[in-house]
Amino acid sequence: MWLNPDQPTGAGYHGLRFVYGTSSLGYNTIHKWVGLGYDAMVLVTGATGFVGRTVIRYLAASGYPVRCLVRNNMSGLRLPRDLTVFVTAGSLSDTEVIRNALLGVETVIHLASADWQGLETGLIDVDHAGSRELLKVAVEANVRRIVYLSHLGADRASAFSVHKIKGIVEEFIRRSGIPHTIIRSALLYGEEDSFTNAAAALLRVVPVVCPLPGSGQVLLQPLWVGDLATCIVRSLADDSLVNRTISVGGPEFLSLASVAHLIMQQIGVRRIIMGTPHPYLRWMVQRLRPLLSNSPLTTHWLDHVAVNRTCEVNSMPRYFDIKPAVFEHTIGYLTKGKWRSDLDLLLGRSSMELVKSRESLKPKS
Ligand SMILES: NC(=O)c1ccc[n+]([C@@H]2O[C@H](COP(=O)([O-])OP(=O)(O)OC[C@H]3O[C@@H](n4cnc5c(N)ncnc54)[C@H](OP(=O)(O)O)[C@@H]3O)[C@@H](O)[C@H]2O)c1
Repeated sequence: MWLNPDQPTGAGYHGLRFVYGTSSLGYNTIHKWVGLGYDAMVLVTGATGFVGRTVIRYLAASGYPVRCLVRNNMSGLRLPRDLTVFVTAGSLSDTEVIRNALLGVETVIHLASADWQGLETGLIDVDHAGSRELLKVAVEANVRRIVYLSHLGADRASAFSVHKIKGIVEEFIRRSGIPHTIIRSALLYGEEDSFTNAAAALLRVVPVVCPLPGSGQVLLQPLWVGDLATCIVRSLADDSLVNRTISVGGPEFLSLASVAHLIMQQIGVRRIIMGTPHPYLRWMVQRLRPLLSNSPLTTHWLDHVAVNRTCEVNSMPRYFDIKPAVFEHTIGYLTKGKWRSDLDLLLGRSSMELVKSRESLKPKS
């Protein structure tokens, strides 16, 4: 049964009801409390992130009871307010927290990552060490399935740190013995992303020119986050995807310059595309990093657009029976922003407020 998350029915949609901590609630209690016919609790790590918030909405709409691992109560505030989810608060570095989070869990969707934080130390602590700890405890807890979201280009021999770490974590997962599905995705976009929103803000804030890494001719295959969430949910019920690594992307190859043009068209600004050498941009971003610690403009972001990041265009229909959304038709959420809030976004001051203000617009039950 595949439900449209915009038409809430059944499980998961009981208004705002977060349950913090799992240690006092046994699995049977949870099962009865929710009153569902489902046996499988799904743990989502990184549930408060851009992808995680969409994935838990789609899981709930398909009837899965969901538990979210959130770093702390503050980041828990980023969870959609109109969903009922169970919450375990704590970090992936804490074995006890992971053990509690895995109580009664059959399936793990592993999304927690420091990818967008832009720091190597984050990748080592969260992606490398955190994933290893999660897998160790998941083996002990007899988890029956893990779905891991990786990147196109993931390879333990990659020169790009995010892609290297993703390749290493993929290997950990394959060796864990837990039945798994690894989804290597193209760059994702959607209302609360760090990709199109940052690009739109940059286009509005910088006058006359639009500096793009390289010549702007690198090819991307942007994938709408809603389509990716559907893939993840469908993969849970599809045994043919067990122990496989699947690459997915949007329905078209777009150069970075075309992506910039489409965003300009959408937000109603005109800028002259100016190719900028990668090393120069990287140097600039590194120098500005101490001032822009929460900014979405990071060297990891540059890595994502450093070389072509594409796969077969028919991957989504082929593996998941999905006709993915066309980029140009799905970026309507980008509107004429305000200069001040654009600057705040680029300086890394506003992401939390952005989410809060959007959440406050949603109807509350
Ligand atoms: N976005 C894309 O275009 C894209 C494409 C392909 C693959 N991916 C992969 O998909 C995953 C999710 O990406 P995203 O865009 O949703 O990233 P995101 O918005 O930065 O979310 C990252 C999540 O990880 C959590 N996290 C960070 N450190 C943690 C820790 N120590 N313990 C527990 N949780 C921790 C964050 O929690 P807080 O909210 O507390 O910070 C947040 O919920 C990542 O693995 C990413 O590499 C993303």
